Amino acid sequence: MKNNSRPGFATRAIHVGQEPDPGTGAVAPPIFATSTYVQEEIGKHKGYEYARVSNPTRDRLEQNLASLEGGVAAKVFSSGMAAINAIVTMLKAGDHVVCGNNLYGGTPRLFNQVWADFGLQFSYVDTSDARHVERALNKNTRLVFIETPTNPLMALTDIRAVGAVCRKKKVDLVVDNTFMSPYFQQPIALGADMVVHSTTKFLNGHSDGLGGVVVCTRPEQAEKLAFLQKAAGAILSPFECWLILRGVKTLAARMKQHDESGRLVARFLANHKKIRKVFYPGLPDHPQHELAKQQMSGFGAMISFETGSLSNANKLLRKVRVCSLGESLGGVETLISHPATMTHAALGEKGRREIGITDGLVRISVGIEDVEDILEDLDQALAAM
Ligand SMILES: Cc1ncc(COP(=O)(O)O)c(C=O)c1O
Repeated sequence: MKNNSRPGFATRAIHVGQEPDPGTGAVAPPIFATSTYVQEEIGKHKGYEYARVSNPTRDRLEQNLASLEGGVAAKVFSSGMAAINAIVTMLKAGDHVVCGNNLYGGTPRLFNQVWADFGLQFSYVDTSDARHVERALNKNTRLVFIETPTNPLMALTDIRAVGAVCRKKKVDLVVDNTFMSPYFQQPIALGADMVVHSTTKFLNGHSDGLGGVVVCTRPEQAEKLAFLQKAAGAILSPFECWLILRGVKTLAARMKQHDESGRLVARFLANHKKIRKVFYPGLPDHPQHELAKQQMSGFGAMISFETGSLSNANKLLRKVRVCSLGESLGGVETLISHPATMTHAALGEKGRREIGITDGLVRISVGIEDVEDILEDLDQALAAM
């Protein structure tokens, strides 16, 4: 399937990089479990030399994800963090990065506890106002790194506005699009220079494999990232590439259901007398609901809500049965988590307080089970609070 004929999203998810195997006609792409490739003579081979450098199953996945995000190329890594790490490795000591102040906790942990020791500088600002980003840019700023919506407070950043600020100052904008997936949000079309994902989440969708991807808009970014795959070796295994190729075939269908059920669960929680606040961009009282409608084509499955205290959160989380208490998100199964002790523990109490993550906050990734069962489960668990 040709990229330039631009079939629809679901068609590309199922067909780009997913062509039948030319040798056998197998409809599902083969897993090339090989560490090396035989060569006919010195320098004469079929384009593959060693598996850290390239692998046909990986090539297929990279073509697929580049197409879904509208980039020129994609490079996959062994986890979302390895993908983010590769982006930072493209910088040099003395470079400065402006980041959203409410990123997935592992991202500032990597920046502050690893890369700051190698001379990179990081500033954290509330990117929901593009003027904050503009003010934070220095002469040595090379990247702006954002998540929208943020994890777990579901605050949005106007990608187009921040993209314009970045272009003016010749700084690259990187968007972590894990929460929305390319089905609901297309950051490159809105002005991002690179998009990163934890493919562990919605792209794979089945909670059975870790992975990460960087989607590029310029060939030189892809060349640098391919070099980093080869030089640093944090590549994704052919089996996990295959898992994502399989998972992504149903991305469009899954996201539609995630969104439909997400809206119903958010409304249920918003109307529940024991819940103090619901964070979901699809609710009309979300402060950036209008922006959400403009820059996303759905509101997705991620909802956070305030139970009032650690004890209330614990009572609720002990009682859920259909929802599984666990870290992660984006699987077909409903996952429920406690950001203060799980995903955002590394921020420390002060760091969490500064951005508004309370001990009573609970995050839910609404799965695609029958929504009545999810609602009934939450209802009975909330009764224990
Ligand atoms: C938004 C976001 N980005 C990046 C990551 C890191 O991805 P991984 O766990 O695949 O390393 C996560 C993990 O939860 C995430 O939620």
